[in-house]
Order: sequence, then C-alpha cells, then structure tokens
Amino acid sequence: MSNNKIKIAIAGIGTVGKGLLDLLLKYKNNETNLEISAIASRRKFKVESRKFKNTLIFADAKELIDFDDYDILVELIGGDEGVSKNIVFDALKKKKNVVTANKALVSKYWRELHSLMKKNESILKYEAAVAGGIPIIKVIDEFLVSNRIKKIYGILNGTSNFILSNMLAYDKNFKKILNDAQKLGYAESDPSFDVDGTDTAHKLSILSSLAFNYNNKTENIKNEGIQNVELQDLKIADSLGYKVKLLGLTEIEKKKVKNFVYPCLLSKDSFIAKVDGVYNAIVVESDFCKKSCFIGEGAGAHPTATSVLSDIIRLSDKRINQKKSSVFVKHKEISLESRFGSYYLRFTTDDRSGVISGIANQFKKYNISMKSMLQKESRTKSDRYATIVITTHSCFEKNMMQALDKINRLNFIRNKTVYLRIEDFK
Ligand SMILES: NC(=O)c1ccc[n+]([C@@H]2O[C@H](COP(=O)([O-])OP(=O)(O)OC[C@H]3O[C@@H](n4cnc5c(N)ncnc54)[C@H](OP(=O)(O)O)[C@@H]3O)[C@@H](O)[C@H]2O)c1
Repeated sequence: MSNNKIKIAIAGIGTVGKGLLDLLLKYKNNETNLEISAIASRRKFKVESRKFKNTLIFADAKELIDFDDYDILVELIGGDEGVSKNIVFDALKKKKNVVTANKALVSKYWRELHSLMKKNESILKYEAAVAGGIPIIKVIDEFLVSNRIKKIYGILNGTSNFILSNMLAYDKNFKKILNDAQKLGYAESDPSFDVDGTDTAHKLSILSSLAFNYNNKTENIKNEGIQNVELQDLKIADSLGYKVKLLGLTEIEKKKVKNFVYPCLLSKDSFIAKVDGVYNAIVVESDFCKKSCFIGEGAGAHPTATSVLSDIIRLSDKRINQKKSSVFVKHKEISLESRFGSYYLRFTTDDRSGVISGIANQFKKYNISMKSMLQKESRTKSDRYATIVITTHSCFEKNMMQALDKINRLNFIRNKTVYLRIEDFK
C-alpha cells in the first residue's frame, strides 16, 4: 500500500456503485485517506468533484487487469463468471485487497478465494454480499469470534418478504404483488433468483461456510421458493397465529450441518415473524451470547453501499491485518428428509363422510399426530367440496412426504395437498 493514500479502483457503477459514489462524496469532509484511482463503468456517468480529479475512467472493467495503481479493488458488477470473476481473482493474485457485494461469486468460489487469499496474503471482504444493510458478516467474523455459533436463521431476501407481507396486507395474489414489487423497484425484471430461493441459498451458503468453517456449496442446499405460495394459505396461517416467511436456516449439531431454504409458518410472536416488507432479519444463536437478532434493509443502493464502504475503510486501516484460514473442516450434511418438525397441511377433498378417517389412517401408519384441525365447506357454482386444514405435532419429513404421497392418491382428494413447514422459533 502506498504511504499515505489508500487507492481504490471501483468496477461497476450500477445501483450499488452509484450508491457508493454518493457515500464517498458525502464522506469527503471527513479526514479520509481514500483516493479513487480508477473507475470502470460501461455506462457514462458524471461526478463533478475534486475527489475524482485524478481518477482514470475505463469503459470496461477488463481493463483493470492491466492496471496496477490501486490497493483495493471494489467489484460491483455481479455475476459468478466473466469479468467480475476475472478481476477479483486477478487482484488477489496481484496481492491486492478486494471488496465485493457479489454473493454469487463469493458463494461459488469460497474455497478458491480463500486459497488465493492465503497464498497471496491478500484479503477479500464481502459484507454487502449478505443482507446489504445488516453487518452480519462482521458479527460472525469479529463480534462472535469468542463464541461457538450453533444456528443462524432468518429472512435473507427482501423481495420475497415484500411479496409475502403484501399479499396478505392487500389481499392480492402472488403475481399481482410481484408486479407491484417490480414497479416499485423491489424486484428485478427477472425475479427468479429472489422468489425461487436461489438468492437466499447463496447468502445462506456464505453464512454457513463462515460460521462453521467449511465450504458449503449453494448447490448442496435444497431450496424451495415462494412462487407457489397461495393467498388462501397466508390467510389461514394468519388466523391460526402464524406468518409465512421464506426462511434460510443453517445449524450445526455434532459436526453435522443442516441447510434449509423454504417458505414456512412462524408464530407471530417470534422475532422474525414481525419483520415485514423489504426488511431482512437474521437471528444468530451462540453458546455465550445466546440469541442475537439483526434487522435492516437487505438491499438498495445506500444500505448496500454502507456495507461496501465499511469494508473499504476497514481494509484501509493498516493496523488491521486479518488472515483467514483456508483449511476447512468437513461436516456431514443433514438431509431435509430427516427434518423433525411440524407441518401445516391444506387438503381439498370431496365433501363426504370418510375423508377425515382416510387421512387419519395414513397419519397413523406414518406416526404423525394432529395438533389442530379446521374444516370448511367450499362451493363453486356447480360443485361442493371441503377444505380441511390440519397442523401436526413434530414428525420426520420423510414420514410426512410418504404419508402425503399416499393421501394424494386417495379417491376423495381433489387437488394435490398444500404443505408448509412450521418452525417453532420464539
Ligand atoms: N442492488 C442491490 O440492492 C444489491 C444488494 C446487495 C448486493 N448486491 C450485489 O451488488 C452487485 C452489483 O449489483 P447492482 O444492483 O448494483 O447491479 P447493476 O445495477 O446491474 O450494476 C452493475 C453495473 O455493472 C456494469 N457492468 C457490467 N459489466 C461491466 C464491465 N465489463 N465493465 C464495467 N461495468 C460493467 C453494468 O453496466 P450496464 O448498465 O451497461 O449493464 C451495471 O451498470 C451484484 O453482485 C449484486 O448481487 C446488490
């Protein structure tokens, strides 16, 4: 690093990149030792500030490969391959430090990035990659360093949380609220990764790898999204005292780790059930600090840029010289099949006798006991059918799936049974 100034090169001036420039300009009155030596932006942009008078502007971030006049690369392009991967890997090999918001890249190349850091004595920081405005990486990496983390769970995707909260609040179905979210800029034009659970799985893999010191690949996480969640289930869950949230959960038990992403029912009294809209909420359970809960904006230009700048400032402090280990532990995965928990089930059946006993018989075979049941007669113009909602006591997922498979084949079942898991968090 140069003697006085810390030189940074920024790649990508999109949502987060622009947010970072705003913060850097605001920051100019403070005594900072940051100098922006280069900006790579495909789009034309203008910043009239003395702060950028010595800044080189590149039209493509790939030009940063032949550029050396920086101490910290800030990668804000995104994507797990191509130019973002090339410049990050290149910078680490050049013994530069790197700050990124790129969850896809960090989760995919966790092992390789840690090897590069170790080999080249460089540092990669990625606070913004998980829950933009919540400093959860620093919590795990620094604050809880003296504790043993047992479990991390929460709402890691603001778009899904916005959709689930607003479906119920405005009595609208998934498609309509997704449309609203896109108009308001809370969902991208292609929202697949947000709603199908992939984005949550990326973030969970990072949290899990960091907390349990291993290499948890996103593809090992079985994720279910919210795209099939129906308004009527949100309403019934609400009447039963629950909220439906897209949950990411990672937990270690005797060197075995479970990593689940699925929409589930949470008691309205639990910490995270109260968190609605675009907010994220993360609970960390550890042996001495017990339960810590963090709530904040999960995305957006300025919350995310705040995380990015905090990493830059941390790296520019020469007193801090963190070296991360690249020796990972191997943990066995606990499969979803062995999940032991309770369930919400909605059956659509013929409205006749023998239905409840038919369901109960299968429950008995698979060791499943009912906790509550409500039944209502439903009608279309020409037809009469029954909606039966059952919540269960805890049972194994494998048993539940086998029972549902059998039940769905019974002749009185009209539609495939809807199931959601219930998590018993306080
Ligand atoms: N947005 C958020 O709230 C948020 C929150 C947390 C983390 N993140 C992460 O932050 C990163 C950036 O996200 P974003 O929302 O800011 O994305 P974005 O708005 O799409 O910005 C990315 C920018 O990079 C530019 N770019 C692409 N290839 C380039 C190249 N070869 N050279 C120079 N510039 C190039 C794009 O230019 P064009 O405009 O020409 O395509 C675009 O302006 C991603 O990894 C994302 O996952 C975002």
